[in-house]
Amino acid sequence: MQGLFITFEGGEGAGKSTQIARLSEYLRAHGEDVLVTREPGGTPGAEAARHVILSGAAESLGPAMEAILFAAARNDHVEQVIRPALQSGRTVLCDRYIDSSRVYQGVTGNLDPQLMHAIERTAINGLMPDLTIILDLPAEIGLQRANVRRGTDVADRFEKETVDLHAKRREAYLGIAKEEPKRCKVVAADRPIDAISAEIAAYVDEVRALRKTTPAAEVVK
Ligand code: TYD
Repeated sequence: MQGLFITFEGGEGAGKSTQIARLSEYLRAHGEDVLVTREPGGTPGAEAARHVILSGAAESLGPAMEAILFAAARNDHVEQVIRPALQSGRTVLCDRYIDSSRVYQGVTGNLDPQLMHAIERTAINGLMPDLTIILDLPAEIGLQRANVRRGTDVADRFEKETVDLHAKRREAYLGIAKEEPKRCKVVAADRPIDAISAEIAAYVDEVRALRKTTPAAEVVK
């Protein structure tokens, strides 16, 4: 049976890595074969693009070209790693995916929605997540957490942007969740870790139960 594709989204410091680790433990304990991956990255080519983008080396090319770089990395990741894993029945947990591009490049990069749509379509070739967990947190708290986590390392290309921009991204994520309530679940991230992981596990169980009754013919095109 086709594996489940679950993506995690949210601003800086929302706790995605912690919750992905929790969920993968939970699913493995239930006998699932889980693949944890991330974007940008997940293949050698996409990791190279990650370095180019996050170092800020591509910033001068402008948001449209950055969006294209993210999309190129995503397409490699989808075709080399994610789709084959799903086809072999594995559950894939991915740290960031299309919604990061919609929010960071599309909304806060002020890119033309039609261009963004075309780039997204080309990058994923039909591979939409079965479930997207949006970890929601006020921008100030997320940035504070990200600063503490980073310690003395320098901020990356996106971390060093202003609180206002991060607040705008939060609104954009909530907007996507409103438009796609079936796929996207908003989980309040300023709560104890256990409460957050229990809520996420409940959403995942719902999707797993649904999948057992209606096998996904359409998931991997
Ligand atoms: P990362 O170190 O993985 O940060 P985080 O822990 O916040 O996920 O850095 C990824 C950065 O790249 C993050 O700031 C969001 C940004 N990004 C985009 O702008 N567009 C995208 O499509 C993706 C996948 C990430």
